[in-house]
Parts: sequence; C-alpha cells; structure tokens
Amino acid sequence: MDRIHITGGVPLNGTIPISGAKNAALPLMIASLLTGDTLELANVPRLADIAALTRILGNHGVDHMVVGKRPGQTTETGQTIRLTASNVIDTTAPYELVSTMRASFWVVAPLLARFGEAKVSLPGGCAIGTRPVDLLIMALEKLGAQIEIDAGYVVARTKNGLRGAEIDFPKVTVGGTHVALMAASLAYGTTVISNAAREPEVVDLADCLIKMGARIQGAGTPRIVIEGVARMNGARHEVLPDRIETGTYAMAVAMTGGDVVLENTRADLLHSALDILSTTGAEITQVPGGIRVRRNGAGIAAVDVTTDPFPGFPTDLQAQFMALMTLANGQSQIRETIFENRFMHVQELARLGAKIRLEGDLAIVEGVERLKGAPVMATDLRASVSLVIAGLAAEGETQINRVYHLDRGFEALEAKLARCGARIERVRA
Ligand code: UD1
Repeated sequence: MDRIHITGGVPLNGTIPISGAKNAALPLMIASLLTGDTLELANVPRLADIAALTRILGNHGVDHMVVGKRPGQTTETGQTIRLTASNVIDTTAPYELVSTMRASFWVVAPLLARFGEAKVSLPGGCAIGTRPVDLLIMALEKLGAQIEIDAGYVVARTKNGLRGAEIDFPKVTVGGTHVALMAASLAYGTTVISNAAREPEVVDLADCLIKMGARIQGAGTPRIVIEGVARMNGARHEVLPDRIETGTYAMAVAMTGGDVVLENTRADLLHSALDILSTTGAEITQVPGGIRVRRNGAGIAAVDVTTDPFPGFPTDLQAQFMALMTLANGQSQIRETIFENRFMHVQELARLGAKIRLEGDLAIVEGVERLKGAPVMATDLRASVSLVIAGLAAEGETQINRVYHLDRGFEALEAKLARCGARIERVRA
C-alpha cells in the first residue's frame, strides 16, 4: 500500500489549481442515465471515486469516452468525458460495485424514472456512522414507486411511471435532494421538494438537468419545484469547482503560513469557512479567478465551529479545521452535527501531539505550541487530508499510511502541494 512522507515546517507559497468538485461530478455522471443522448461533462476530476462510478455506469451499459485534449488544456484543467446511456442493458447495481462507492446508490433514481425498475444494492456500512438511505427511499415512494428490500437490495418499480408529489424532507439531505431532483424530472406532473439541501452541488446538478430539458425552479433554496417532462436530451456542462478542496488548501496555508493563490475556484462556494478562517487570522482576498490566502507571522486565533448544512460550515471541512485548531492560541470547540462518529482523525492527530478531548458530538481542542511528526493512519477521505495538513505544519517527518482514502477525493494532492514548496512525496508500495 502506498504511503505519503511529509517533512513538515515549510510554509506554502505559490499557486494551486482547484479541480472540479467530486461531489458534483458524481451526481452529474449519474444523471446521464436519464437520457439516451450524450451528456458531455467538462472539468471532471481524475479520482478513484470517479473511476469507480465509471465502472458502475459501464455495468449498466453506459458508453464512456474521454475527450482528447484541446489546445490550452493541461492535466490540471480536468478531463472532459462523454456518457451515453442509449443502450442500458442492466438496471441492477450489484453489491460488489455499489459497496466501493456509496453515492452510486443514487443510480436508483434515473433508472427507475426512465425504465420503471431498478435493483440497487444497499451501500452498506461506512466509516463515518451508519449513513442510512431511508429518506432517499421515502422520496421515491412519495413519487409512487413500490419499494421492497430483498436480500440487501432495494428493488424499486413503477407500474405507470412516477407521479409528481410533495416531498418534505424531515432532515436536510444532499443525496435525498439529488435523488428527488432526478426522479421528479421524468415524473408526470409537479413535484415540490421542501427542506431541500441548498449545497452548490445541488444547484450544479439542477443547472445541468435544466440543460437536459428538465423544468426546475428554486434550486439553491429550501423549496424546489419540478415540472416533470416526458423525455430528456443530451447537454454539455462544466463541473463547478471543488469547494472542499479549496477549503482544505486554504486551511493548509493558514496552518503552515505562507501565501498561496487558489486558482479556478470561487469564494461564494464557501463563505462560512472562509469567514471563519479570516477570524483565525488568515488573510483571505478574492483575486480574478480565485482566492488568495496568506498568513505571515501572526499566531492562529482559536475559534469555535459547528458544522451545518450549506450555507453553514461544511462537515467535509471539519477534520481539516480541527487540524488547524491544534496549533491555535487557546481553546476551540468543534461540534459535528451532520454525521455521528466523524472524529476518527482525533486519535491520529493526538499521535502528532494534538490535545483534543471528545464529549459526544463535541471536540474540545487545546492549542499546543508545536506538533511533532509521527507515523499515522488515514481512516476516511476528509480525516486523512487533515493528517496531511497537520503533517505539513508539524516538525520532522510524518508518514501517512492507507492513502487510498486520499486518492478517492483529492486530485494530484502531492503535486499540488509540492509546487508550493511542501516537502511531500508518495512512496509506492
Ligand atoms: C453528501 C456528500 C458528503 C457530505 C454530505 C453532507 C456526496 C457524494 N457526499 O453525502 O461528502 O459530507 O453530503 O454535506 O455528495 N440521512 C438520513 N437518511 C437518509 C439520508 C441521509 O438519515 O436517507 C442523514 C445522514 O445520516 C446524515 C444527514 O442525513 O446525518 C446528511 O446526509 P446527506 O446530506 O444525505 O449526505 P450524503 O448525500 O450521503
């Protein structure tokens, strides 16, 4: 298994290009199942999760093509792919594939809406809590699907197509909103989603669905109205920038010090996180096409944070922020309200010398003067990148094991950090 070696204590200086958002690219790729025409997606990141979903879509019969490079395109501008679901041969998504990537469960929505049936494996356990799919199933049932759970599979059918309905989510769910949007786009009549997720990735999916012929209003607000259409068409869409990758590198700079421009990204995708970073003492400015993050000399102020659905502070940046707070002047309280059991980075950060106490969903971080490098273990995607950030700021050498978690969600991580002066390398097993 590959490992990452970091020799810490070097400030970051330079530019980092931000990739397309993994969490937008995944539902956008799944939306290709809604039509027999070609969906062209640009700025798709090269990630293990994208490759896994490509395999899953291929198993359904979706044709996948990577478009050759165009003039001016570099490896850092993401890839353009074409997906064509004109010949869907199988509406079953098997356990061996779905268990490799949770979000692939969402294929249930377009398959059911377009073909009237889908059999999709339940995704199974996950390192960050139980992560159920009951609300996704509730949404499909409201739209008239008959659903059975059979031997670990969700078997969904409709007799005469899906029907528009009122879907009121008791809890904000990104996956539930994606599923409801895709299914309702091809349902008869009007659907109203209440308490919808407002995440930028939901807006990006809705924008693409609209290009594909869907009639959707209100994406980005808690109330989305969808007028179903009989068929959808192909389209071209560019995946929006990855706000979690943006926030992660911003926190890395805030922690190590230095001056970095994050390119091809937008501050409006992560205001809450950038506001909090400014409060910790980092200087954040918008520059054309990106965001500049600086911290020179000043100490890191301790700030309390609670994770919340968008526009609140994202749970996917909680681990990285905790890494930053381990070197703050004073005590910070970090509350995780979205997922249970999302504190697995705590004991690994402790191996670097961090002082963190857990009380239920609250982590109390006592800032220390310095961290010291050590061997640590990556446990999930966001937790592992928090160890990278901490390793960059720690004295001496940090060795991160099980880095396949990082490859799921961070494109060219070592190269992007190394170009800013970080001493980081991958040791291939
Ligand atoms: C998505 C993101 C993930 C992010 C999360 C919250 C992708 C591929 N993943 O995950 O990175 O951390 O949003 O911003 O986009 N819940 C239920 N029942 C359900 C569905 C969800 O109880 O049927 C609960 C979950 O356990 C959790 C909360 O709702 O407590 C939010 O989960 P949700 O927004 O659905 O997360 P995902 O879409 O899985």
